[in-house]
Amino acid sequence: MESSDHRTRHPVVFIAATAALCGLLFGYDTGVISGALLFFKKDFMLSPFLQGVVTSSALAGAALGAGFSGRLADRFGRRLMVIVVAGLFLIASLISAWASGIGMLITGRFLVGLAIGVCSYTGPLYIAEISPPESRGALVSLNQLLITVGILVSYLVDYAFANGEHWRWMLGLAAIPAVILGLGMLWLPETPRWLVKTGKTEAAMAVLRRIRRPEEVQSELDLILSQPHEREGRWTEALAHEYHPVLIIGIGLAIFQQITGINTIIYYAPTIFQLAGIGSAAQSILATAGVGAVNVIMTVVSLRLLDRLGRRPLLLTGIAGMTVSLITLGWVFQVPESPATSWLAVASVMTYVAAFAISLGPIFWLLIAEIYPLRVRGVAMSIATMSNWAFNLLVALTFLILLNSLGPAQTFWMYALLSVGAFLFSYRFVPETKGRALEDIHAEVRTT
Ligand code: BGC
Repeated sequence: MESSDHRTRHPVVFIAATAALCGLLFGYDTGVISGALLFFKKDFMLSPFLQGVVTSSALAGAALGAGFSGRLADRFGRRLMVIVVAGLFLIASLISAWASGIGMLITGRFLVGLAIGVCSYTGPLYIAEISPPESRGALVSLNQLLITVGILVSYLVDYAFANGEHWRWMLGLAAIPAVILGLGMLWLPETPRWLVKTGKTEAAMAVLRRIRRPEEVQSELDLILSQPHEREGRWTEALAHEYHPVLIIGIGLAIFQQITGINTIIYYAPTIFQLAGIGSAAQSILATAGVGAVNVIMTVVSLRLLDRLGRRPLLLTGIAGMTVSLITLGWVFQVPESPATSWLAVASVMTYVAAFAISLGPIFWLLIAEIYPLRVRGVAMSIATMSNWAFNLLVALTFLILLNSLGPAQTFWMYALLSVGAFLFSYRFVPETKGRALEDIHAEVRTT
């Protein structure tokens, strides 16, 4: 690589990695609860209903946080939003860790959820707007990589603290990345695109000088200025007829990312493994850590391929892999149990997660950061993100009920059928965005 590449890439990678700590908090805080639950339910003597309320309060908070904050991200800027939610993360983690009763715990988890909801899309939004087109896929997907790392770390922390039943430490540790994120963002610039949107062209130019090669600065500024950018995005504006095609892509992918069942595995893997006949709890936990590791490793693979192969080939291949894995997993529960079928269940869960990690995992968050025009980007992303969290909650609440009423085979086949829907939807609607300037992507999506 040329030395000028190093000069320009280095700060952008550092900036993106800092903002991607949003992903780490997202992953950690959604993953940690399953382990912590085992212990605080004893301390507070929780009924199954209240256990469900604590577990889902963060997901409900996330849907709400994502929904109400889009306009704020357009109005006050991406950077400020991330700084404010880092503060909220810190306070909410401490409230959860110090909870003296169930009311305080639910409040803490709900506030954690609000912060996750906002951070889950402002992180990718911020990164997409500072990245050069040729590496935007990998840089934005650093956020997804840290989501998977956060999930894995949460499994390990749960495991490490399980002996002493230290659930307060499990919940409180999230305060550390929150502080690093908040302090880190204080030093980082606002995105050139948001600065242009708010009329601060000089400041945008100054930021571009910090993060681009000298010869790229003026042309990128001209490109941003050439798009309609003035005015604040509002819900009504984002819902206008001309944006329907892009809204449908974002909301559709948001829903498909969840209803194809990823979080049945992320939240309930040990339950599924035990159902499939993996006898000991220790083996189930080990297999679950394996799931977390496969998720991280395959997300790294995806990061390396997104800007080379493009989004569409990875998305379609991955969803096809998810479908085949789900059909196999369903089949395992249909035939008589044996050691071979138990391990086939583990193998198909692993291939399912691997296929998700190269496709719907990173690509949903990447595309919603890419396809919306600057004018309504914050609001439109928040609408897609809210849909994602709402369906996350729906799947989390219904999975165990479906498992009991339909049985495991039919449940996983239902997710397989929904994956076929995801494939057809992606094939028909998802554009290729590899290597294009954000400004060109929107122009193209609008005319197709
Ligand atoms: C999804 C989460 C999921 C995670 C798993 C994210 O892209 O939005 O719901 O838990 O991937 O890696």
